[in-house]
Amino acid sequence: MLPTVAWENNSVVMIDQRLLPGKEVYIRCRNYKKVVYCIKTLAVRGAPAIGVSAAYGVALAVLKSGTGDKMKFFQEVAFAIEELRQSRPTAVNLFWALDRMTARLNSLSNLPVLEIKKKIIEEALLIEKQDILINQKMAKNGAKLFKKGTTIMTICNTGVLATAGVGTAFGVLNEAHKQGKKISVVACETRPLLQGSRLTAWELKRAGIPFRLITDNMSCHIMSKGLIQSVIAGADRITANGDTANKIGTYMLAVLAKHFKIPFYICAPTSTIDITLKTGKLIPIEERKAEEVTSLKGVKTAPDAIKVYNPAFDVTPNELIAGIITEKGVVRPPYIKNLKKLFKEIR
Ligand code: MRU
Repeated sequence: MLPTVAWENNSVVMIDQRLLPGKEVYIRCRNYKKVVYCIKTLAVRGAPAIGVSAAYGVALAVLKSGTGDKMKFFQEVAFAIEELRQSRPTAVNLFWALDRMTARLNSLSNLPVLEIKKKIIEEALLIEKQDILINQKMAKNGAKLFKKGTTIMTICNTGVLATAGVGTAFGVLNEAHKQGKKISVVACETRPLLQGSRLTAWELKRAGIPFRLITDNMSCHIMSKGLIQSVIAGADRITANGDTANKIGTYMLAVLAKHFKIPFYICAPTSTIDITLKTGKLIPIEERKAEEVTSLKGVKTAPDAIKVYNPAFDVTPNELIAGIITEKGVVRPPYIKNLKKLFKEIR
């Protein structure tokens, strides 16, 4: 199986996550517009995977430009980057990757167009390669937090399908399992789009990690029975104070975890931390179409012409988070101070 997103023969290949687990179909993107389409429709999803895809989208825009005129070339690419920016609003990894590609482009402006093309493809490949390494580091840092025999609840999909590597929260679970910690997982199905049941259950099964699947509304009951010792989730954007946007339902798990005195962890690369936003109130939350709530896999589950809410993400307040696992280590409260310190060290 190919990685989730890969650069192959001057095009981007990605597994169509909308069809999993039923079918393993690969989409080949030959231009950046197809990448925009894949991100918008969730053929590719998960914050780091969106970032890598966007970087490859820029590489395609650069590669496919037919003009030799430098000014026109930069205008064309800037237009493509703007379109990629509009594909999804919440995961900051998208903007992080586009900003990094833009900075690289600007640093190359004195070179001939052909040379720029080569170096931009190299930069996108590097983003993918670095994500793989970052995933491995997070997995090691996070696995230390779990004692032998822990049962851990998780939500959405944070694995191979959501990143270029082994995953964020899923990577931690996988590492703890490989280290022989005899962990088991309870995966929430993650309505409305079922990333938990369609994708995480698929990955857990393939990895041989013992698990049970539950519907999201079973989480309280399962925790109340003492069946869960820890909760771990990924992130789409973490603000300077540690507030964390992640898949809708994450906040609910954090509140429950607090009630039952269970530690709740977030695992995300530092590229998911948006230090420019003070609090989670400032994070743009994607609203998706009503049909995702009023139907399930094309079958209507609600009457016609009704109003729904369909936010794709929620924001967990920092006070509910026991630790943020990153590739640089586990950040603990107070997040305002400790995230600032982490960013000083990175720069
Ligand atoms: O709407 P999605 O499927 O892109 O949402 C994904 C999530 O919320 C993940 O938990 C998050 O991106 C972290 S993935 C490593």
